[in-house]
Amino acid sequence: MQNRVLIVEDTSSLSMVYEAVLTRAGHLVNCAASLAEARAACAAMPPRLVLLDLQLPDGDGLDLLDELHRDAPECRVVVITANGSINRAVEAMRAGAFDFLVKPFDESRLIKAVDNAIATLEPFPPEEERDAPETFEGFIGRSAPMQEIYRMVRAIGRSTATVFITGESGTGKEVCARAIHAVSTRARKPFVPLNCAAIPRDLLESEVFGHLKGAFTGALSDKPGAAAVADGGTLFLDEICEMDLSLQTKLLRFLQTSTIQPVGAARPIPVDVRIVCATNRDPAEEVRQGRFREDLYYRLHVVPIHMPPLRQRPEDVVDIARAVLVEYAAEEGKAFVALDPRVEGLFAARPWPGNVRQLLNVIRNIVVLHDGAVVLPDMLPPEVFVGAEDRPAAAPAAGWTAPPAPVVSARNHVAALVGTPLAEVERELIEATIEHCDGSIPRAARMLELSPSTIYRKLESWAAAAQRRAGE
Ligand SMILES: Nc1ncnc2c1ncn2[C@@H]1O[C@H](COP(=O)(O)OP(=O)(O)OP(=O)(O)O)[C@@H](O)[C@H]1O
Ligand SMILES: [Mg+2]
Repeated sequence: MQNRVLIVEDTSSLSMVYEAVLTRAGHLVNCAASLAEARAACAAMPPRLVLLDLQLPDGDGLDLLDELHRDAPECRVVVITANGSINRAVEAMRAGAFDFLVKPFDESRLIKAVDNAIATLEPFPPEEERDAPETFEGFIGRSAPMQEIYRMVRAIGRSTATVFITGESGTGKEVCARAIHAVSTRARKPFVPLNCAAIPRDLLESEVFGHLKGAFTGALSDKPGAAAVADGGTLFLDEICEMDLSLQTKLLRFLQTSTIQPVGAARPIPVDVRIVCATNRDPAEEVRQGRFREDLYYRLHVVPIHMPPLRQRPEDVVDIARAVLVEYAAEEGKAFVALDPRVEGLFAARPWPGNVRQLLNVIRNIVVLHDGAVVLPDMLPPEVFVGAEDRPAAAPAAGWTAPPAPVVSARNHVAALVGTPLAEVERELIEATIEHCDGSIPRAARMLELSPSTIYRKLESWAAAAQRRAGE
């Protein structure tokens, strides 16, 4: 487990150097260029150590030192002062700083100061006493439903049973398939994903089972199929419900015999693969409709895993958003380090019909279009505020959709509203107006003759209430 270090330094060239040095030394580093950014970063994710420049554009670093001393007494602070201002360093030590560095200082002095300070902290508690894991093999999220997924994936890893993953679009079915492979005894052998919806039906058989030269027009040489490439490893058949019935029959034979017969081959060849398949449709319904072979379904459905939609795990929304914000900011060369608490409240309360994929798209959108260290409510794209886009993202096979978005019910007739609490009517009206304005809060505010900040405040309080309800 790494120590989280926050660097508060407004000279970006210096901050980058410190960041590089401390990252190399194995710390998890965030940077802030002002007191405001530092406060937001501490609120979002409390650091174990703060490297604090005292001269900041929006105030005195000593103020932050006082706040940390009061609110996070376990956090160590190492102060940086300019040459010639030793008295400031002394002041900082009196105020509770652990150590100070006088500019200029070299790399080893920096590492030593940080290590000494961290050495005085309680070590991380042993694994079993720690909170539930926040990440697991490509997943982020510590919610109870995800803990159950992690438990199942670990258990499944030891067997070779076929796994059938269901779940709405964007819930992490592919991440799950990769995790199953990664924790299994097959991890060193190939993981071969094949998207049954993306390959033309007449080519799918040769993609799965391979073909021999001359087996059909265009088969210019022998080609091993995905099942042979995955020998010893895992074959991931994604969007399995898109496979046509004749190929389903061949897949069933393959599962029953553990042999494949490449197109044009005379004899079957034995292979050893673990099959994981996924669909965002309801497979039982596909069987009822006669689109999926029942015997194949039961053969594949040995260990079912259902990926929970994001709206059932609001605490994960914030964890995922924070983590990818930092990742995307690094990729896009932006300075974002934290989400404003209001943004976190809004995020946690959204229904996220496109699940994690939609959340990632929203964060990418913000990082690309805006600048700053903290994501503020006015940077959010309209879809975060309104029900208008609360429809599942159009997927090739969006058969199994989320329940419809909450409908705005109290819009048309006042008489129909008699008996409805005023607060509820107010909320319906505000949400409907925002929707009418395509998600533009300023336009909705003008129409309602309110200030935009009043609307933001209300959205926040509803989001917080929803979060509380979800936590109960
Ligand atoms: N718990 C998670 N933590 C972090 N990233 C996640 C998580 N779940 C999914 N993702 C990311 O979200 C995106 C969508 O995930 P994935 O492709 O696994 O979804 P899917 O269920 O297969 O969707 P579809 O049905 O549309 O194919 C990917 O970029 C994936 O890395
Ligand atoms: Mg997928």
